[in-house]
Amino acid sequence: MGAPVSDASGAGIPLTDRAKRIFVKSFGCQMNVYDSHRMADVAAQEGYQEAATIEDADLVVLNTCHIRERASEKIYSELGKVRELREAREVAGLKTTIVVAGCVAQAEGAEILRRQPAVDLVVGPQNYHRLPQLLRAASLRSGVVDTTFPVEDKFDHLPASSPATIRSRGVSAFVTVQEGCDKFCSFCVVPYTRGAESSRSVAKVVQEIVGLARAGVREVTLIGQNVNAYHGQDEGGRAADLAHLLNVVAKIPGILRVRYTTSHPNDMSEALILAHRDNPSLAPYLHLPVQSGSNRILAAMNRKHDVGDYMDIVGRIRAVRPDIALSSDFIVGYPGESDADFQETLDLVGAVGFAASYTFKYSSRPGTPGAELKNQIDEQTKSARLLTLQQLLEDQRQAFNRAAVGRIMPVLFEKSGRHAGQVIGRSPYLQSVYAVGDAALIGAIADVEIIGVGPNSLRGRIVAPASQSLDEIQRNAAFSGEADASLRKENA
Ligand code: SAH
Ligand code: SF4
Ligand code: F3S
Repeated sequence: MGAPVSDASGAGIPLTDRAKRIFVKSFGCQMNVYDSHRMADVAAQEGYQEAATIEDADLVVLNTCHIRERASEKIYSELGKVRELREAREVAGLKTTIVVAGCVAQAEGAEILRRQPAVDLVVGPQNYHRLPQLLRAASLRSGVVDTTFPVEDKFDHLPASSPATIRSRGVSAFVTVQEGCDKFCSFCVVPYTRGAESSRSVAKVVQEIVGLARAGVREVTLIGQNVNAYHGQDEGGRAADLAHLLNVVAKIPGILRVRYTTSHPNDMSEALILAHRDNPSLAPYLHLPVQSGSNRILAAMNRKHDVGDYMDIVGRIRAVRPDIALSSDFIVGYPGESDADFQETLDLVGAVGFAASYTFKYSSRPGTPGAELKNQIDEQTKSARLLTLQQLLEDQRQAFNRAAVGRIMPVLFEKSGRHAGQVIGRSPYLQSVYAVGDAALIGAIADVEIIGVGPNSLRGRIVAPASQSLDEIQRNAAFSGEADASLRKENA
């Protein structure tokens, strides 16, 4: 393969003297995106710069996803391509280290080396803080594997992102506050790949977000596999819940909007529902996976909630926050799912009305109880059900977007548009909104009247000046030590 080996930004510097470069390619969920950033931060401490392209990288990390068979298998074709790249670079006298991280690394470990011997290092999600030592070990002996669940907490050892790096990643950031899962839904690999549920302390989360806000981040999404099972320690050593954490985070100077994902219906506490009433910075949007509308299938999936529980939450949250919108995840074709069960899923979708959703064909995963079941559903039936469900959800999404026309919504501007004088941001409901406006709006929330709707975005007109411009926030005295002290008091 003839991928060019260039040195675009190091013009004039001999290749041997240039800084080492890392390229992390992320697959799967938002937690992997976050982890990829943290791995790049660890590498930065070791003197690596981020490569603009994979061809330029001395260190290639594939941060993998194991959730469905296709995602998992894709890694091997990616690895084949990276190996060819390495061979092309070798011709140019350059060395490339190949790392497989993420959930496939955790699930398959040394098996990855057997299928692709070019891999130098396999590292599971709980060991990213050990990357420097592991890379040194891999430079001496190729084929190092670390998929242990260490006693120490990686977050205590991962370096903070530099302000310049934070700025390069944009005004909206993810922050892991909870990781792992104890729920063991019978289709799912996550409890095995991410390990048991654990939560970061309120102080650690606040410290990270204060750093992000100071560098210009204006929106944070608190993430976790079951983010609403959050139970991190507060400053007094007591367990704090997600509602508390959201309220504390919303008060961090510079943070204009807060989100959280992904929630499990069983952990949707009354306090969290009330946070949607009482916390104006909390986006009126809830991603709440239901998976199926059939109680029989939900029981078989070991979800431990039924349709009634789900509808009850939807009713309660809409009662306190009528403008809230919902999104969800659905699996079609779980073993034993009948036409009648599937019809119940369609009925649930009709009854709730979703702004957006993710739909999946059931994928049998090694080591999960679902894979052992005899009554697997054939591919054709799964495909037909998927199509029907997707059409219904797409109609709902389009209707939701059309209903935005004429409304005035607070939009957080994130970047410039392709056309001069155009800015792009997000509505509270994660819709992309285009408007005519100055690039100085990036990082600010402005009131926007929605005047048009396209297939994947809305068109808006700014009707009120930005509530707080970036400059204003940065000039704001709230950034003094006083604000940090008041936050500490808040946490106590
Ligand atoms: N923790 C979250 C979601 C984790 S995985 C929750 O409990 O809802 C994201 C989504 O992938 C799941 O909600 C589910 O819809 C889907 N998924 C997980 N395992 C799957 C499998 N084996 N086959 C198909 N879809 C799956
Ligand atoms: Fe997977 Fe279920 Fe845990 Fe979500 S709650 S991560 S679907 S086992
Ligand atoms: Fe995939 Fe692991 Fe996320 S399996 S969805 S990358 S937790």
